Amino acid sequence: MIKPLRKAVLPVAGLGTRFLPATKALAKEMLPVVDKPLIQYAVEEALAAGIEEFCMITGRGKTALVEHFDIAFELEATLHQRGKHEEVAELRRTTSLPPGAIASVRQQQPLGLGHAIWCARAFIGNDPFAILLPDDLVLSETPCMAQLAEAYRATGGNVVAVEEVPREHTSRYGILKIAQKRGDLIEVAGLVEKPSPNQAPSNYAIIGRYILLPEVLDHLAHFEVGAGGEVQLTDAMAKMIGKAPFHGLRFKGQRFDCGNKAGFLEAQIAFALQRKDLASDVKRFLRKYLEAHCDNHD
Ligand code: G1P
Repeated sequence: MIKPLRKAVLPVAGLGTRFLPATKALAKEMLPVVDKPLIQYAVEEALAAGIEEFCMITGRGKTALVEHFDIAFELEATLHQRGKHEEVAELRRTTSLPPGAIASVRQQQPLGLGHAIWCARAFIGNDPFAILLPDDLVLSETPCMAQLAEAYRATGGNVVAVEEVPREHTSRYGILKIAQKRGDLIEVAGLVEKPSPNQAPSNYAIIGRYILLPEVLDHLAHFEVGAGGEVQLTDAMAKMIGKAPFHGLRFKGQRFDCGNKAGFLEAQIAFALQRKDLASDVKRFLRKYLEAHCDNHD
């Protein structure tokens, strides 16, 4: 029997060192793309996939992420007084979750993504669960996690979102060893975390969307240290291959790596161009800057 997917884990304990000084006193997942913080994109994407319960893995200086989903009574009252009812409606989007739907646990030390997920073991229990890494933002017609959830309902087992990356970038990702391709669904024969290009078994990379069976926790509990001296989720996932279905889904959409500056800026532009209230202004100033700063060699 394929158990329904109801839970999501959001690892948000990372230090955000690549965005200093912006992230000195601010969680990197609170950085906005246009006008919405990364964490809210992740939660809304999960909701669109039918997920009802959330667990954030937080750390020091990350309380704002949980508070973002609280009702801001004073702010709402002031906005109402000033007749700003649309803004109140927009704020309410962050609080549309039923009471108790968001929990958080602490990861006291940054020991790796695998360790962060293990910290949510009590929340996960014996259920399948989604993981969304808010750094990875996906622009798509059908939200990426909903695409994964559909694949999960068909195949059961574990499903991860994948995309092809340039060979020279394999050392940034978890990489698939492919058993078989069936359209967009890829049967996984193995997984390697951050292999060098010459050792990578393919150029299919995992991006930050997963649906996993709870058995992954049994493997994580050994705290085996992998690439970069960290407890790697990819290594624990690799141990499930052969015991339960394991697929990669080549999702439809464009993914932005908001964990690096260029990717983050690209996301700003791509998402702003989707907005009716901003698109024409953005096009106009992009043209202006391109004309002023680019010659034919750029
Ligand atoms: C993590 C995972 C990696 C995955 C990547 C996607 O790496 O360990 O397997 O490909 O997220 O963004 P990180 O970006 O945390 O180094």
